[in-house]
Amino acid sequence: MTYENGVGPFEDLKSDSQVVYKIKKLKEKLSNKIIILGHHYQRDDVIQFADISGDSFKLSKEAAMNKDKEFIVFCGVEFMAESADIISSDFQKVVIPEIKAGCSLADFASLENVENAWQEINSIVDEKIIPITYINSTANLKSFVGKNNGSVCTSSNASKIFDWAMERGEKIFFFPDQYLGGNTAISKGIDKEKIILWKRNKKYGGNSKEDILNAKVILWDGYCSVHKRFSVEDIYRLREEYPNIKIISHPECKNEVISNSDEFGSTSQIIQAINDSPDGSIWGVGTEHHLVNRLKEMYPKKTILSLSKIGNQCITMASNTPEKLLYILEKLDSGEIINQITVNDEVKEFAKLSLNKMIEITSKK
Ligand code: 13P
Ligand code: SF4
Repeated sequence: MTYENGVGPFEDLKSDSQVVYKIKKLKEKLSNKIIILGHHYQRDDVIQFADISGDSFKLSKEAAMNKDKEFIVFCGVEFMAESADIISSDFQKVVIPEIKAGCSLADFASLENVENAWQEINSIVDEKIIPITYINSTANLKSFVGKNNGSVCTSSNASKIFDWAMERGEKIFFFPDQYLGGNTAISKGIDKEKIILWKRNKKYGGNSKEDILNAKVILWDGYCSVHKRFSVEDIYRLREEYPNIKIISHPECKNEVISNSDEFGSTSQIIQAINDSPDGSIWGVGTEHHLVNRLKEMYPKKTILSLSKIGNQCITMASNTPEKLLYILEKLDSGEIINQITVNDEVKEFAKLSLNKMIEITSKK
């Protein structure tokens, strides 16, 4: 079995009890200064220390709301820590246990490539185009979107952000995740012929001028290598074995996986759906394995199965270990700040606009 960049088979790793003990002590000692945020894909031995856990949307709102702590310790990946730095107060500092914890999906779109595409599209189209960036993107793309009157979205609010954009413009330019963008557009009833893929480094993204003029949604050709691995065959196999199974998948999965699932949603929405189902329910879950395993433990009276036979792990999420968390806390305790994630002020100014736009749209009824 070969794995793409950023994905690995699931391995259940357990930390040293001494490390766990020391983190607990330091957390207590630094409690006036630090808040620990943790994404649902973090390892169990890391997420146990999170003051607040959540999906990307919840964590960005928490970073905006928790203004009293000097340090936000972000157990997640770089784009999440960057978003926290953009949206938190100026005096707050964001640190991450593993400085190299990136997101292979975010890496698909550079500012230069997106700006070139934007210019090419606008050289053909007279209509208003609204740019939307998935939160899984670099800070400078959020800034680009802020400058061009668009919005950030997450997997939990993409539908609302699409509605908002469709009321304001004739076309949506969505990056970097082709699947979240495509799944959302399809769920809105947009004709598949009006959803086109923009291939990086190709003239007009590999499309004809007519295709671009006719398009309602233009999707960047990025994807999450962890979620792309789930297949319809996985779903057929589980449905055959468990005729009553319900399949729930993350919208970063391929379009055919989503259209063959019973439900789809963000990590928090997946947890909520399983939580709300009666005991005895059987679920096949298409998302990262740490969360699937945690769900099994949280709901022992329900049968929770991964869509993948071996479990797809996001390696960068898993690269935040208790040892690395302990190390940054020890440094903070001694007055040294390491692994700080900072977004420069110019980028921050406009990135804040697009992140706040998302929060504003999402909080409207
Ligand atoms: P959520 O916002 O649903 O937690 O997703 C984040 C992510 O990176 C999924 O791969
Ligand atoms: Fe990025 Fe995919 Fe990992 Fe989420 S699971 S952080 S989208 S690589």
